[in-house]
Amino acid sequence: MPRRSLTVRILQVVTLLVVTFLFAALVAAAFFNDGKPLTTLSPSGPSSDSIQKLVVPVFAIAGVVFLLVEGAVLLISWKFRAKDEDDPEEFPEQVHGRTFLEIGWTILPALILAGVAVGTVMTIIDLNREEPDSINVQVAGQQWWWQYKYDVNNDGNFDGPEDIVTATEMVIPAGRPIQVTTTSNDVIHSFWIPGLNGKRDAVPGLRNPLKLEADEPGVYRGQCTEFCGLSHANMRMLVRAVPTGDYDAWVRNQLKDHSAEPTDPKAIEGKKTWLALCAQCHVIKGVNDVKAKTTPVPLVAGVAPDLTHLMTRGTFAGSIFNLYDPTDPDDPSVLLPAGDVASAGNPGAALTGGAVVTANVNRVTLEAWLRNAPAMKPMYPQGGRGMPNLALTEDQIDQLVAYLETLN
Ligand code: CUA
Repeated sequence: MPRRSLTVRILQVVTLLVVTFLFAALVAAAFFNDGKPLTTLSPSGPSSDSIQKLVVPVFAIAGVVFLLVEGAVLLISWKFRAKDEDDPEEFPEQVHGRTFLEIGWTILPALILAGVAVGTVMTIIDLNREEPDSINVQVAGQQWWWQYKYDVNNDGNFDGPEDIVTATEMVIPAGRPIQVTTTSNDVIHSFWIPGLNGKRDAVPGLRNPLKLEADEPGVYRGQCTEFCGLSHANMRMLVRAVPTGDYDAWVRNQLKDHSAEPTDPKAIEGKKTWLALCAQCHVIKGVNDVKAKTTPVPLVAGVAPDLTHLMTRGTFAGSIFNLYDPTDPDDPSVLLPAGDVASAGNPGAALTGGAVVTANVNRVTLEAWLRNAPAMKPMYPQGGRGMPNLALTEDQIDQLVAYLETLN
């Protein structure tokens, strides 16, 4: 029989090279993503740190086992390959009954798995231990944004007058544990801030615990990780960890309402438009919250993000657009273009109730959103999921933005 043709051999070599290259690229992509918003390998808090301390040794053990097993497979396939296609004895000599080896390769994996199990169970216990002075926050997923309720007075209820309701961004004090409870207002979502902890499903009717803590002030990004419909990919989370003093100021400001009438003539007109069109779904505390709670129909307020302190957030629409120009994380004095969503919009002093620097507001995107929201993010407004196109005039948009800019 002729030897395999040259073409077949070249094809084999090329295939091997391509597979090796793809595998190497995959490994490189998994490891060299330091500083990327969703990397799981740069822990920024105690929970993600204890996960990392489990992942590294387990990965090392798995890597050694992989190399030994695959190495043996390759070696044996090479050593005992059919050397000649006409060879009548193409099967190597068959052996069995090496008792010592068989017991060995049964016991060794069992011991390795038992060792990994001890580390895993200890980590799970550590991740579920509740910290005594934690802040309680309920996180509810909703198509396609996140709502946050803070039990400020610690009475076990998230809906009291002393509590906070906000959306899109979760503000926390750095260095303090947050006891999160995940749930959902519609379908199953999954809450995931990779820098701070693993994933936790947000299931309607269930309350799942998750501990978060950030070592340092900063912005920690997340992404819904359970397919939840049209804009699943546009359902992001943002945790803004701030110094304790700023957090206290943020809480004090969030507890205020916006019952005071705006003074700017444009904003006054904008508020009228807001009451006529937006107040059916959105709530502004002090403006329509009481009505929203006491009118059973047709108000559906609560199905859209609470806007009371909109301008204290750096992003909007499920955290996919910047509400303000972002600042360079390495040099906060440098403003980046608003389109740089990976660098979250920076509300500046407005975060804690200070003045809104209107020059830094991302007006272009905010206006585009008001002009035609479904064109900016896939939604299903006719089914009550997402914001409809309200067919606003350019004047109305201008006035609405003027009113929204008062909501610090
Ligand atoms: Cu919410 Cu996917």
